[in-house]
Amino acid sequence: MAIYYNEENQTFHLQSVSMSYVIEITKYKHIAHVYWGRKIQAYHGANAILYRDRGFAANIDQEDRTYSLDTLPQEYPQYGIGDYRPCAYQIKTENQHTYSHLRYTGYEIIKGKPSLTGLPASFGDEEEVETLLLHTKDKVLGLCVDLQYSLYTRTNIMTRSVSFHSEKQTLHLQKMLSMSIDIRNDKFDLISMYGAHNNERNLDRRRLTSATTLIESTRGASSPQQNPFLILCNPLANEDYGDVYTFQFVYSGNFQASVHVDPYRNTRVQMGLQPFDCEWLLKKGESFQTPEVIMSYTPNGLTQMSHNLSQFYHIHLSRSKWTNKIRPILINNWEATYFAFDEDRLLTLAKEAQEVGVELFVLDDGWFKKRNTDCTSLGDWVVDKQKLPHGLSYISKNVHSLGMMFGIWFEPEMISVDSDVYRKHPEYVMQVEGREHIFCRNQLVLDLSNPEVCDYVIESIRKVLLSTEIEYVKWDMNRHLTNIGSLYLKEERQRECAHRYMLGLYHIMDTLTKEFKDVLFESCSSGGGRFDLGMLYYMPQIWTSDNTDAICRLKIQYASSYMFPNVALGAHVSTCPNHQVGRKTPLKTRADVAMCASLGYELSLQTLSKDEKKLIKEQIEFYKEIRETIQFGHLYRLHNPFEENITAFNMVSKDQKKCIVFYFKTLSEPAAPFVILKIKGLKEGILYQEQETKNIYDSSELMYAGISIENVKEDFISRVWHFKKVEGE
Ligand code: GLA
Repeated sequence: MAIYYNEENQTFHLQSVSMSYVIEITKYKHIAHVYWGRKIQAYHGANAILYRDRGFAANIDQEDRTYSLDTLPQEYPQYGIGDYRPCAYQIKTENQHTYSHLRYTGYEIIKGKPSLTGLPASFGDEEEVETLLLHTKDKVLGLCVDLQYSLYTRTNIMTRSVSFHSEKQTLHLQKMLSMSIDIRNDKFDLISMYGAHNNERNLDRRRLTSATTLIESTRGASSPQQNPFLILCNPLANEDYGDVYTFQFVYSGNFQASVHVDPYRNTRVQMGLQPFDCEWLLKKGESFQTPEVIMSYTPNGLTQMSHNLSQFYHIHLSRSKWTNKIRPILINNWEATYFAFDEDRLLTLAKEAQEVGVELFVLDDGWFKKRNTDCTSLGDWVVDKQKLPHGLSYISKNVHSLGMMFGIWFEPEMISVDSDVYRKHPEYVMQVEGREHIFCRNQLVLDLSNPEVCDYVIESIRKVLLSTEIEYVKWDMNRHLTNIGSLYLKEERQRECAHRYMLGLYHIMDTLTKEFKDVLFESCSSGGGRFDLGMLYYMPQIWTSDNTDAICRLKIQYASSYMFPNVALGAHVSTCPNHQVGRKTPLKTRADVAMCASLGYELSLQTLSKDEKKLIKEQIEFYKEIRETIQFGHLYRLHNPFEENITAFNMVSKDQKKCIVFYFKTLSEPAAPFVILKIKGLKEGILYQEQETKNIYDSSELMYAGISIENVKEDFISRVWHFKKVEGE
């Protein structure tokens, strides 16, 4: 059992292997938050909520001036009844009132985890997860709200979501967050990630201040601008030490996360659907389910946080067959050819890639009808006979005859005005009637709130995937939403459009990833523009960034590793000078950076010298030897590129028999410091042999004394060490 109800003191104790979460039902039937942190063996009320009469505090009961929602630590706070902090939900009645008052009515504890209809969400069987449903109701409105908590006992992770149901009348949901929590402490640092296209996921760490911090997207995608992932940690927390709480949204569209510190030094954290320009009509008898938030806690710092999250995603979130499978090394033709290719050019690239050991050939954008620039043809998923006169199956067959797998690019959510599908169905576009289209990358967005459009997308992608042997799909999405409206939806449901777009998209992804379950799907949104758990649920790999410059990638991959396992990050070696930033870096460094994740290549091999090709062959051989450790081992971040001139990681295989260490120096420095790298996560008391030098070291020596790094007077340097346990030890 993991969830305990104590009738006497009206508490629910959610207890996992080393975490506890305590909720209390107050005497006025509100749901209060009591505790979240290290495991408590048994809760007896030691940190009881204190009630005090405070100025300006509104009272539910005139006789009791100490009880006010403005100061009560709560689980799902409401608007209009005296809590002036940010609320978790808001409704409007047909006669324009926004007052509601939910009170607790009962609970259920169930084994396992109910799925959330139409939404990506974590899963687990009855031995691994238990769910608590707290029922609340506003009897006057006939509004029922259920708070759902699922506790994954082994992984110290819980999930939260909320469902709304209207029993009596039409209600307008104007805000419907998935979770809220009031922690009675404000001594935290907040870590979030911001960025842009080609510059995703910069780490931002700051002390909380007495104000509201909003992390959000209104772009119709989770976006590279802000990520739906928050860390709240002890200000002294580092990789190895300190309380770390995380909040991550299993959703790929508009979101809002906020952290609010109130005058009594409590911290309110909230996460859910973006309330701006979003409303949901709840007619009598209808329900609405919010997406889920994943919440984790560890007292042991950021490394443990990442290990817990990675483990959780592998077991309970990413549902693809490929989640726990070794990933093939790929070559992608995009940066090698862009739109300028023909059959010969593709097959020459494939052949050369095969010679150096690549296992998967990916045909990127430009393979379909007249797609010679980004101005045209999105939506017409039929092969371009000009470029590929013998069809896709000819390329696929030839690639397979080289002993490689074949993959292909789509951007299924988009449409070009210059396309047959637009000419036939201009109403398929997301739009506001009578208003001009707003373009981005010359393209428009399909109205996925319309089931007919979803069917068209499913059918056209299905047709291609059935037409020949395709083992990999890159699913792209290269613009954000504008003109948020639908010719399909009724007037009263127009403000549901952005969320219905996501529901339509999830339906499409659900259908296609189930039907083509052997296909490895990699999601992409101009690189890492939809780097979220909604995508990871369907697609176990994400193209981390369009920026393939090794030095920029150090930061992008470093920050990404906070929340995603290495194996999920696509990382390619590209040409030099780099196409995004013009930097010249050694081929070795480019490969070493890409080897820290799921390795691929994206450059023309024909233009390389013999020596370079030889080096690539060696890199691929080496990666094949170490990739299980990289992709499924434990990652340790040793040096942080956001703070230092050096970056270092090491990965240790699950059985602790293998360890790979990566070291990168960005710029050559005068008076260079002596650098000693201290490896982490090795097994105590055994010997490891470095595979190149054959030197043998004790694990404690490598971890505590460390290894000295010779200074090299060059920029953009990398080094790699491969240690293996000395057998027979
Ligand atoms: C996006 C992707 C790239 C490439 C292009 C093709 O930008 O992120 O990797 O596929 O589209 O148009």
